[in-house]
Amino acid sequence: MDALSLLTTRRSTRPLGLPAPDEAQLEAILQAATQVPDHGLLTPWRFVVIEGEAAKARFHALLNETVTQLNYGEETRKKADRVAAMAPLVIAVISTPETQPPRAKPVWEQQASAACAAYAAQLAAKAQGFDNVWITGLWVNSPLLREAMHCRDEDKIMGLLMIGTAGEGHEDTPKNTDLSALVERW
Ligand SMILES: Cc1cc2nc3c(=O)[nH]c(=O)nc-3n(C[C@H](O)[C@H](O)[C@H](O)COP(=O)(O)O)c2cc1C
Repeated sequence: MDALSLLTTRRSTRPLGLPAPDEAQLEAILQAATQVPDHGLLTPWRFVVIEGEAAKARFHALLNETVTQLNYGEETRKKADRVAAMAPLVIAVISTPETQPPRAKPVWEQQASAACAAYAAQLAAKAQGFDNVWITGLWVNSPLLREAMHCRDEDKIMGLLMIGTAGEGHEDTPKNTDLSALVERW
């Protein structure tokens, strides 16, 4: 698929199964994620890759423990089970803003760069034939997940990218956005 077709037809899909990206494909996804606009070249993001049985089990346990710790109840526990089983590969995108002068740029700009990194990773996965969805939910604020991912106070888990392959027969339907209300031409 050429780049413009990718950009104008990308959609999110869940749940996702195998195959998942192999090592080289994962490397390409992470390389794409690190080529994003970055004011001051601060590399204000990092990634946690969750793949394989042991890592997925650890992730699931952390989601479950979050439900228990924060008293979220049984409905949310079922959601935790669904999130843990949503895709064979999960990439957490973490914003790691530089806050010390003189290098620091506004935190929102650094978070915007991290959001770009997440989207670039989504596109790179799609370009290699892998479906995906960016989720957050209450999970990204989980103290347990934040601790396990070594987040400092100023760090933010921007998203959990769920990556794999959609079920047979799945096709992305472009949104065909009506631009008239969104674009002003000067
Ligand atoms: C920052 C961010 C957080 C999101 N969190 C969730 C989420 O927790 N759960 C969910 O189902 N979709 C979430 N989404 C939306 C999906 O990623 C997706 O964009 C949406 O389902 C629309 O599908 P589309 O990308 O095909 O238009 C989030 C999107 C963004 C940008």
